[in-house]
Amino acid sequence: MENNTRGFTSNIGAILAAAGGAVGLGNIWRFPYMLGQNGGGAFLLVYVFFVILIGVPLMMTEFIIGRRAQSNVVGAYKKLSHGNKGWITLGVFAIVGAFLIYAFYSVVAGWTLNYIVMASGGKLAGQTPEAITALFKNFTQGSFWPLLYQGLFLALTGAVIVMGVQKGIEKVSKILMPVLFILLLLMCVRSLTLGAGAKEGLSFLLKPDFSKLNGSCILSALGQSFFSLSIGMGAMVTYGSYIRKEDKLFNTSLWIAGCDSLVAILAGIVIFPAVFAFGMNPASGPELVYIVLPNVFNSMPAGTLFAVIFFVLLGIAALTSTISLLEILVAFEVEELHWKRSTASLVSTLVVFIIGAFCTLSFGPLKESTIFGKTIFELFDLITASYLMPIGALFMTIFLGWCFPKVEVKDELSNGGTLKVKAFEAYYFVLRFLAPAALLIIIISGIVG
Ligand code: PFF
Repeated sequence: MENNTRGFTSNIGAILAAAGGAVGLGNIWRFPYMLGQNGGGAFLLVYVFFVILIGVPLMMTEFIIGRRAQSNVVGAYKKLSHGNKGWITLGVFAIVGAFLIYAFYSVVAGWTLNYIVMASGGKLAGQTPEAITALFKNFTQGSFWPLLYQGLFLALTGAVIVMGVQKGIEKVSKILMPVLFILLLLMCVRSLTLGAGAKEGLSFLLKPDFSKLNGSCILSALGQSFFSLSIGMGAMVTYGSYIRKEDKLFNTSLWIAGCDSLVAILAGIVIFPAVFAFGMNPASGPELVYIVLPNVFNSMPAGTLFAVIFFVLLGIAALTSTISLLEILVAFEVEELHWKRSTASLVSTLVVFIIGAFCTLSFGPLKESTIFGKTIFELFDLITASYLMPIGALFMTIFLGWCFPKVEVKDELSNGGTLKVKAFEAYYFVLRFLAPAALLIIIISGIVG
């Protein structure tokens, strides 16, 4: 029987696990501040357009590669290219990228734990805006506490991964994703019932003002859509290899992209009405969530409760994503290097902690150690999101669109010919032409800067 025991037990399990991988800090922390800095509603529209036109086809591409090969990202390129060294290198490239993303991502993930503790201990309540800024700076510029929280977050992720694909990833996602949605809806209701400013915030998010749109906004929207859907680093190749042979890859991808965009929009609905209602600045950047929002919570009734809810949901979103990042590495180590799952989880976690410590310390003791004017954290973020992910995705489209038989692509997408894939030609066109062109533009414009 072809039905795999190595992977997810149901389609809903696959959707929730992969949606968990996609929905993360990218949706709730990065998306709102990018939107705030890039003019609001018009950015949202362009973002959704790219998710549908390019994001979904690229996610399908990763799933096709993973499920066809039944393998981790390196093994997948090795199998499907019949051992071609160049394509194997592309798999290794994805592994390196996943390590780097995990290293800087776990810094911000660790912050969520600290904020859950601070919020529930009432430390944020009743503070002046200056005090809240100082709390953030003192915490992030330190060494011991941010490292401790980063380590805790990495350990938590490792504990889930050790339990395996079904008992760890799938089970945890099936519990945490619905919780995340419920908490997010609760926060939306709170934010939308804040009175006058709420309306203003909502129209900032939803009313497109195209005069604010320029080339750099469009590129940011394109880059954000790749980051948010976890494309180009093998996350979806790995998860694709766990999707059952009878599941529909097109529908599955649509569900995941739909969840991902919905969470980003709901996060916007939580944040912008609240920010406007209390006269804060929507374009304040990465600290939007950690400095602006605590001020907002302080000004609202039952603010402490909602602060706790918000940081718990941010932590959940981060956790399901770090799980997908660690699984990229562990699947590779188990299948290619023949390590035990527990050894692979432990070693990867330790290595990421060592690299990640430099990212954490780059807010404090290593603040002055910059390369090209960027701290280590900023450099990791920039290199992965602006270069490694689009480059990984570009070569992936070249592999599947140009170097792999079309009949096999169609066979995998149609579950061995049992499904009618009406839009196959449209998908294949995007795979061969549109997606590589868009990716090339992102990469070049990133270099030209
Ligand atoms: N998609 C995740 C987010 O939006 O937070 C980030 C991410 C996870 C990127 C896994 C890449 C990846 F392989």
